[in-house]
Amino acid sequence: MTRLQFPSLFLMQFLAILWPVLLGTLFTAVHGAPRSARRNNGQTNLSQFVSTRDGQFIVNGSEFKFVGVNAPWLPTLITKDDIKNTLCNMSQVGIKVVRTWGFNDVTEIPENENQTWFQLIDKNGTLTVNNGTNGLQKLDFVLKAAHECNVFVIISLTNNWNPVANSSTNDTRPRNTLSNDYGGMDTYVRQFGGCKHDEFYTNKTLIEAFENYTTQIVTRYVNNPTVFSWEIANDARCNSSVAASPSCTAQTVTGWHSIIAQHIKSIDSNHIVASGTQGFFCVGCPKLFPLQPTAPSPQTSAAPGQRRATKSQPLTKRKLIMRREERRRKNRALSDGGSSGVRVRGRWVASRTRRQEENEIGTAFDGSAGVDTEDILNIPEIGYSSFQFFPDQNTYTQDAADSGLSSFQKTLQEGLEWISLQAELSATFGKPIALTAFGLVSQEHAPDFVPFNSTVAPFAADSSNSSNTTTSNETSNSTFGVTSSERTQAYSTWLDAGITSGLAGIMQYQWGVSNVTAAAGTSFSPNENSTSSSSDETGTSSSPDDGYSIIDSNTEDTESIISSASLQIAADE
Ligand SMILES: *[C@@H]1O[C@H](CO)[C@@H](O)[C@H](O)[C@H]1NC(C)=O
Ligand SMILES: *[C@@H]1O[C@H](CO)[C@@H](O)[C@H](O)[C@H]1NC(C)=O
Ligand SMILES: *[C@@H]1O[C@H](CO)[C@@H](O)[C@H](O)[C@H]1NC(C)=O
Ligand SMILES: *[C@@H]1O[C@H](CO)[C@@H](O)[C@H](O)[C@H]1NC(C)=O
Ligand SMILES: *[C@@H]1O[C@H](CO)[C@@H](O)[C@H](O)[C@H]1NC(C)=O
Ligand SMILES: *[C@@H]1O[C@H](CO)[C@@H](O)[C@H](O)[C@H]1NC(C)=O
Ligand SMILES: *[C@@H]1O[C@H](CO)[C@@H](O)[C@H](O)[C@H]1NC(C)=O
Ligand SMILES: *[C@@H]1O[C@H](CO)[C@@H](O)[C@H](O)[C@H]1NC(C)=O
Ligand SMILES: *[C@@H]1O[C@H](CO)[C@@H](O)[C@H](O)[C@H]1NC(C)=O
Ligand SMILES: *[C@@H]1O[C@H](CO)[C@@H](O)[C@H](O)[C@H]1NC(C)=O
Ligand SMILES: *[C@@H]1O[C@H](CO)[C@@H](O)[C@H](O)[C@H]1NC(C)=O
Ligand SMILES: *[C@@H]1O[C@H](CO)[C@@H](O)[C@H](O)[C@H]1NC(C)=O
Repeated sequence: MTRLQFPSLFLMQFLAILWPVLLGTLFTAVHGAPRSARRNNGQTNLSQFVSTRDGQFIVNGSEFKFVGVNAPWLPTLITKDDIKNTLCNMSQVGIKVVRTWGFNDVTEIPENENQTWFQLIDKNGTLTVNNGTNGLQKLDFVLKAAHECNVFVIISLTNNWNPVANSSTNDTRPRNTLSNDYGGMDTYVRQFGGCKHDEFYTNKTLIEAFENYTTQIVTRYVNNPTVFSWEIANDARCNSSVAASPSCTAQTVTGWHSIIAQHIKSIDSNHIVASGTQGFFCVGCPKLFPLQPTAPSPQTSAAPGQRRATKSQPLTKRKLIMRREERRRKNRALSDGGSSGVRVRGRWVASRTRRQEENEIGTAFDGSAGVDTEDILNIPEIGYSSFQFFPDQNTYTQDAADSGLSSFQKTLQEGLEWISLQAELSATFGKPIALTAFGLVSQEHAPDFVPFNSTVAPFAADSSNSSNTTTSNETSNSTFGVTSSERTQAYSTWLDAGITSGLAGIMQYQWGVSNVTAAAGTSFSPNENSTSSSSDETGTSSSPDDGYSIIDSNTEDTESIISSASLQIAADE
């Protein structure tokens, strides 16, 4: 156990305050004894695997809440030392769970032995899993190191997004640099000769192909308690870079989740399974898994693993509109309080007018994304609710067009509303809820920002001629994104809101490392000696930045927010 291998001054200060809590946690970690056995209602569940009870995660018999981060690239680090150091550094900051990609599909075997790949999907639809040192042995080591550093791993099994670089854009990034360049659903569709994204959800052959991959991964780690949970897919939905057929609906995506969740549970009863979607709703839609009628008496004891469900009510249009009116009132009050210095911030998604708002419930609620969070959450094999928040790329709650709030304040509010809505709704299902990824692009990262559905950085300085430094500086700066201090404020606000509203886990997207081993042609290519990194020796590299990396001029502030949120959420257990 290396939990306190690197006690920082910061942690030491809190040790004094939180000693009883930490002592309990340590005792639990070392002896596997239940700290909160009193909550067990006589049942003893000392499983070392993460489980759920009464709407909470349970580890070693005790409630477990966490702050975590995303690092899709973790298995693509070149050396074992880098993997180990990365995970132990996370742990030192207070991170207890990391979310990473457990898939890495190629269409031909990479010549570069330093490139990580997990599965070859041939043009004729033959699947070959790579169990070599640049294959699943990388994932084996991630789990081994995570265990040693006391970090759990959420393993995602495929990705909705896999845009192919257009030859006209001259994308020279090595594969795995972008989180959407690890294969995924559209790779299966293309290689099996399909033409619509949703064939992945409906075609028997493709379903079987993905089940086969899932079987390999899940059985490999079925007895490994470092796996926090299986995530069926990142951001599954109808549309992607391969277009969906008009017949794709939320029920298509729900039905597929049910098939895969059952498949995983049939081979692994140790781990919990979650979806991995953004958390969109389909208000008023028919359900494949309707809510059970409310129990007659709120006093009756809950079914095993279920929080007492006193108000099983799906989200309705009426409720949404009422919430919106309420928010407008609050926002008006807020803006009357004076909000000078309005900073116009470019938005990737177009904002809507008041008239549109009144007539529509919005794409996050009308099922147009092909996601019905409530229906998915009610699948018996789905163990907890997961959602994401990327306000630069999706519209979640509607803009309060008349509120007079600054663009940044609206983004802050959008996050608060999305978090509280998700927390409230999940409570009716008696399952825990985690925000598995959130991020906001700051100006400093705008040039590197690449949307998940794209391979192009829309705000990059003209990279075709890097010698024109004069223009590249100016264009890269003020066009898109919040300031660094606004991002810090937003992260802090959302972490706080998540903890207060009872989320069991909150995960920033995404972690970053610098000064790790480089290998040419990989996602950890040697740093170019550009402006800021002139001190880097050749042979070192930084983790990829898609606009959200924690590595920037503000890293220490961001780490410190994560660190204190981690202590705060643990104290809430
Ligand atoms: C599929 O393609 C691979 C090479 O890409 C080949 O080795 C294999 O024999 C093919 N399988 C079938 C069934 O055609
Ligand atoms: C990889 O898989 C093959 C085929 O299943 C097996 O023969 C081989 O022993 C495995 N190698 C390792 C290192 O696991
Ligand atoms: C892409 O690269 C080729 C060869 O280097 C070059 O001729 C072409 O102009 C480039 N295209 C763009 C859009 O930069
Ligand atoms: C499913 O995919 C397979 C393999 O690409 C194809 O042969 C088959 O026609 C598809 N089935 C349907 C119903 O589209
Ligand atoms: C899935 O695995 C089974 C058993 O190994 C095999 O028969 C089947 O062909 C595989 N399906 C696909 C689509 O690869
Ligand atoms: C990506 O998504 C954004 C926001 O939804 C949309 O405006 C854009 O057209 C999409 N781009 C591609 C290439 O699909
Ligand atoms: C550099 O930028 C300036 C100002 O935008 C522009 O006039 C000039 O053509 C650029 N030079 C090159 C070589 O692209
Ligand atoms: C461009 O940016 C770098 C790093 O931020 C800075 O050192 C340099 O002075 C800037 N150049 C101009 C012309 O603004
Ligand atoms: C441009 O970026 C630099 C470095 O990140 C920053 O110091 C400067 O304040 C920015 N300029 C504007 C106008 O935002
Ligand atoms: C990078 O790592 C090497 C080896 O661990 C170390 O000697 C060096 O000081 C580090 N450089 C920086 C800039 O952190
Ligand atoms: C793989 O990476 C290591 C470490 O950077 C390097 O020494 C080795 O030459 C690389 N191998 C290839 C084939 O590039
Ligand atoms: C990198 O730095 C070295 C030494 O400072 C210099 O000779 C070389 O030209 C630089 N390369 C680039 C691409 O700027």
